[in-house]
Amino acid sequence: MAEQAVRGVENRGEEAEPVQPDLPAGRNGRQAGPVLTARVGGNARLIADAFELYVAKGTKVADITYGRGVWWKELDERDYLLEKFDLHPVKADDYDVVEADFRWLDCCESRYFDAVLFDPPYMHGGQTVKQSINKCYLNENESHESIIRLYGAGLLSAARILVIGGKVLVKCQDEIESNRQRLTHCEVIQLLELFGFRIVDILVLVQETVPAMRYDFQKTARKNHSYLVVGELRR
Ligand SMILES: C[S@@+](CC[C@H](N)C(=O)[O-])C[C@H]1O[C@@H](n2cnc3c(N)ncnc32)[C@H](O)[C@@H]1O
Repeated sequence: MAEQAVRGVENRGEEAEPVQPDLPAGRNGRQAGPVLTARVGGNARLIADAFELYVAKGTKVADITYGRGVWWKELDERDYLLEKFDLHPVKADDYDVVEADFRWLDCCESRYFDAVLFDPPYMHGGQTVKQSINKCYLNENESHESIIRLYGAGLLSAARILVIGGKVLVKCQDEIESNRQRLTHCEVIQLLELFGFRIVDILVLVQETVPAMRYDFQKTARKNHSYLVVGELRR
């Protein structure tokens, strides 16, 4: 262990007490301890963690799947030059969300944004999936491959609208389809690398609650974690 990381060790055989090194203030000025690779809780805290490291105040951010803005609950939107997009913007007077399909994003200039936030429907839908889930995620994606095609199309748009060196923050969760493991996070990482991104980080979110079970038996471990993959546009 590095010398400065222990306190009170003067060869007296005493147990070294771990010391929290002084951390530089993050990009957003918060100093609530180090950002860790995994946390238990909700998306809003996870996103705030990622912003701390990868998205500076005052930069141009596109949230291309804004939804209800849950990701922004721990951040102040006014600190960023934020532009919000969604295929189905919530209908309310104070919602400044532009109706746009992330597969095209014709309304966005190329090489403009410093960061893109991307949280598409991550689970395949269809008849075997609970209708409430299909409805909640506006899920018309009937196979895992259709989900991956959505990721691919959105990431291509991100690659176009980001400046070189810009960051994409992509949320995903692995899934089981017909008893087969579909490791979405591995596929998203592959797509990012193929499309000219460098993987700079992977943050894991562990659910606070035990997910509901559809059957009273199980063949594989029930998934209770998801990922935020951070990619940087190389070229
Ligand atoms: C998992 S939710 C995003 C939740 C959001 N991050 C929040 O904080 O509330 C997925 C969102 O993707 C949007 N969506 C689905 N397909 C889309 C598409 N092709 N283009 C743009 N938005 C899409 C849905 O309308 C939905 O709001």
